[in-house]
Amino acid sequence: MSDEVHVPADASPLVAWSALPDGALVEVAAVLDGDAESLVVMREGDAVRAWLNVCPHAGRRLDWAPGQFLRSKEGLLVCAAHGASFELQRGECVAGPCRGDALREVALEVRDGGVWLAR
Ligand code: FES
Repeated sequence: MSDEVHVPADASPLVAWSALPDGALVEVAAVLDGDAESLVVMREGDAVRAWLNVCPHAGRRLDWAPGQFLRSKEGLLVCAAHGASFELQRGECVAGPCRGDALREVALEVRDGGVWLAR
């Protein structure tokens, strides 16, 4: 017997690795605990990170249109609603109305040419 996890044949990644250029911030849809969620996915070299697309200030989406994120010239992610600015290592708000709060991180893994929710 094998301990291998069998993924259904129709399962697909959140996003193909080839569709995620280095430095990109993209929005993807995911189901977390049975709820449909929007995620912000960022690639940096071989690493990917993701957070819920929900600002800790007032719970609004971070993007100004679906998948369209504001970046400051310092590389911070800026919430389109009231301007909270987040660094993209830990998702911490470093300026704006929720300074010191953080985005909710979602664990990902890269395999089989795609980015998936971590098993
Ligand atoms: S909801 Fe993001 S800064 Fe207010």
